[in-house]
Amino acid sequence: MGVAGKPGASRVLIEGLKTLEYRGYDSAGVAIQHEGGLVVLRRAGKLAELEAALAELEPFGTTGMGHTRWATHGPPTEQNAHPHVDTHERVAVVHNGIIENHEAMRRELEATGCRFRSDTDTEVLAHLISERIKAGDDLSEAVRVTAQRLEGAYAFVVVSADHPDTVVGVRHFSPLVVGLAEGASFLASDIPALLPHTRSVMPLEDGDVVTLRPDGVSVCDVDGAAVERPTRTIDWDPVRIQKGGYKHFMMKEIEEQPAAIAATMASRLDDATGSIHMDALDALGDRLRAVTRMTFVACGTSWHAGLAGKFYIENIVGMPVGVDYASEFRYRSIRGGPDHLIVPITQSGETADTLGALRDAKAEGSPLISICNVPESSAARESDAVIQTEAGPEIGVASTKAFTTQLVALYMLALDLGLRRGVLSHDDVEARITPLRRVRYAMEGALRQAALVKEVAHRYADAQDFLFLGRGVNYPIALEGALKLKEISYIHAEGYPAGEMKHGPIALIDASMPVVTIATPGRVYEKVLSNIEEVRARDGVIIAVCAEGDERVRALADEVLEVPAVDEDLSPLVNVVPLQLLAYYIAEKRGCDIDQPRNLAKSVTVE
Ligand code: F6R
Repeated sequence: MGVAGKPGASRVLIEGLKTLEYRGYDSAGVAIQHEGGLVVLRRAGKLAELEAALAELEPFGTTGMGHTRWATHGPPTEQNAHPHVDTHERVAVVHNGIIENHEAMRRELEATGCRFRSDTDTEVLAHLISERIKAGDDLSEAVRVTAQRLEGAYAFVVVSADHPDTVVGVRHFSPLVVGLAEGASFLASDIPALLPHTRSVMPLEDGDVVTLRPDGVSVCDVDGAAVERPTRTIDWDPVRIQKGGYKHFMMKEIEEQPAAIAATMASRLDDATGSIHMDALDALGDRLRAVTRMTFVACGTSWHAGLAGKFYIENIVGMPVGVDYASEFRYRSIRGGPDHLIVPITQSGETADTLGALRDAKAEGSPLISICNVPESSAARESDAVIQTEAGPEIGVASTKAFTTQLVALYMLALDLGLRRGVLSHDDVEARITPLRRVRYAMEGALRQAALVKEVAHRYADAQDFLFLGRGVNYPIALEGALKLKEISYIHAEGYPAGEMKHGPIALIDASMPVVTIATPGRVYEKVLSNIEEVRARDGVIIAVCAEGDERVRALADEVLEVPAVDEDLSPLVNVVPLQLLAYYIAEKRGCDIDQPRNLAKSVTVE
């Protein structure tokens, strides 16, 4: 985050960084203009360490910048924390992303006698910019010319003691948004940091160099040509990014799911006519007619949503669907074309791997519809059309409500596409819309079981490993349950299609291995019961997610996590709830940092 012209800048920066800490939280630092020099303060560990150090001083400064880090080059020590400074501490830089050609520049600088104090790729920037300033450039010019030399995907922000009212930022494939206010200007890598100061924001584009001064901002490209970027007014309610009495954002966000999925349906379902309409498909116009296949590209939890989406599109529309990890898609020889619809699924819209896949597919001429939760994000802006999920800001690092809104978006996409392609009639769609509307109540029912899930969680909180099994549309939910558990409790967990267990993972099963199995009604129900028997025969411990009152499952399982019964297609939305709660309560019992698990970051803006 950067600020130019706001009294009490040290406080402003800390408060802003709190809203950005989800992006990285292994160390933090600020550089603030003060009495003709820069006050640079850095701390290893959470932002609270830096906040405590700054609290010893009165709020000070009007211009400066701050950063929270997710380590790429060098361990998360104070020495490697940002800002990084030049030899005389006249220039300071904070940076997200990776400077890929930093080693060559470092060698060049070292050959001229420059001494480096960190392991980071960032530090070269401070030295290079300082040299340009010494050669007579002003700060904007020095930054712009330095940016011309850089390779990689990054955003960085610079202050210089010789330019006390100026902050300069560069965006190149990592997000950076400007905030405009009366007498002050701001920039940050995400909008929530700006909201206490302004609703007027200006998202930057790749290649932009922005200069902030108290009286306004100017933007140019790396060649120095002035560019204009539109401003937008943000109407989010800041309350949505507060914990609201919850111990953790994750629990607040789990409980927000029924409302979030309802909001995602709201403008797309018409109760009066029983019809569905996805504007995103209109936006593709004639290009949609040429489409013969589809690929979802995504990472992590969003990739799991893509697996469920494959089930929906193939079953409902009959169109072949690929689901690829975005980081793998990029390196395949077949990556799209005019008949190949590419659907990036991304909560943040800023995940570097997903953006890379999106851009590669675009270059191959594919039509692009993103499923995205942040309308101002790069993915949303760079796609031909966007299906916006209405999860609202998701702060907990482990994704919950973004996932379930993605599932709903994918289901609606399948219905609308089925209608447009003539494989579904209006009556077919109408018959599916009523249960879709009602599924939020089943999710609420699943949430009401939280106390029972907590008891089960406490009984297994010391397990070393977990297996999660599901079939069909609940196979991705098994993967998601395992991912949630490992992310926030650090217990080793694996998800498998239940039918695949006998081909290898069964070797792991013994009396110490809890096996969480999704056994709700549907076409694979009997098969899942057989899989449960196979686990029992090997003394494994069965924790079953099943429909309320299912005596057959109850008779087989050691523990049951009951959920209201719904249509099989919609069951992932309900079944994932007890798995999210299970992970949450196990992590809480183990004393883990639930909202900011170790080693993770919410928005992974490096490849
Ligand atoms: C898991 C989680 C991650 C993200 C992944 C993609 O709880 O949050 O696996 O799903 O990093 O992020 P987005 O959806 O922002 O592209």
